[in-house]
Amino acid sequence: MTSKTPKVIWITGASSGLGRSLALQLAGKGHRVIASARNQEELEKLATLNTNIVALPCDITDEEAMEALRSRIMEISPSLDQVIFNAGNCEYLDFPDPDWSAVRRVMEVNFFGTLNCVKLALPLLRKSNSDRPHVVAVVSQVTAAPFPRAEAYGASKAAMRYFFDSLRMDLAADDIDVTVVNPGFVDTPLTRKNDFPMPFLMQVDEAADRIVKNIEARPRHYSFPLRLSALLSLSKILPGVWQKLVAPGATVPASDSEGDVSK
Ligand SMILES: NC(=O)c1ccc[n+]([C@@H]2O[C@H](COP(=O)([O-])OP(=O)(O)OC[C@H]3O[C@@H](n4cnc5c(N)ncnc54)[C@H](OP(=O)(O)O)[C@@H]3O)[C@@H](O)[C@H]2O)c1
Repeated sequence: MTSKTPKVIWITGASSGLGRSLALQLAGKGHRVIASARNQEELEKLATLNTNIVALPCDITDEEAMEALRSRIMEISPSLDQVIFNAGNCEYLDFPDPDWSAVRRVMEVNFFGTLNCVKLALPLLRKSNSDRPHVVAVVSQVTAAPFPRAEAYGASKAAMRYFFDSLRMDLAADDIDVTVVNPGFVDTPLTRKNDFPMPFLMQVDEAADRIVKNIEARPRHYSFPLRLSALLSLSKILPGVWQKLVAPGATVPASDSEGDVSK
């Protein structure tokens, strides 16, 4: 199977933002796209835009519904060649009295919901006729540096990142590749709620286009834009300067002006 051979691709979180744009771009290249999210109406609208797209609504946190989804996917195709685990949500904590339950809600979708998707997808990927089926996880550049109020979102994405880096090793024997995609700020319904500056904000179609092009080579990680990756590396080299930059009101201890210490 070459990169031009039509694949069967399951994309989660396809009702809006990056997932929707990825579905349209991949269907436009002739791939068969199974598009999931909770919003059935939006998915059905999406499916009218390209006959290669099939709408299969599902809440990824609902394990019973995921079992039903497995059967519905298998009615469409006995196997999957690629999965793009993109569904996600974001809630910020407001100090000094945060709603701590937000941490569990965000983990439930981003981490445990994605885990439900992995459990569903692996047996179908193993049946793929492609030489190397492909798991793509949409994580985030947030894992490269701490941001204030991002405890829930950042921890859920860091958990995803570790999970998929580890999974890559365990799937190597099955010839299944794993790519972790780390977008920077992309203009989607998720980021439109943000009330802080978002450096190098990208348009959604451009971001999806970059993802489609760059995952073809199946890198372990694909992070973009490079300018943001470079900026975030400051948090490792000069954590105190980073903290002053992103949390200007905070007092930074003098001892914190250098990088991490290992002895
Ligand atoms: N935008 C950015 O700057 C940015 C940066 C880095 C990473 N990301 C990641 O990119 C991914 C896509 O986000 P986006 O920016 O495109 O935001 P978005 O437009 O809000 O898309 C999120 C998608 O996830 C789906 N979803 C949420 N909860 C779900 C659930 N329980 N079950 C099934 N589907 C669920 C939503 O659909 P329903 O509501 O219909 O279920 C929607 O389709 C997320 O994982 C996000 O963390 C985004």
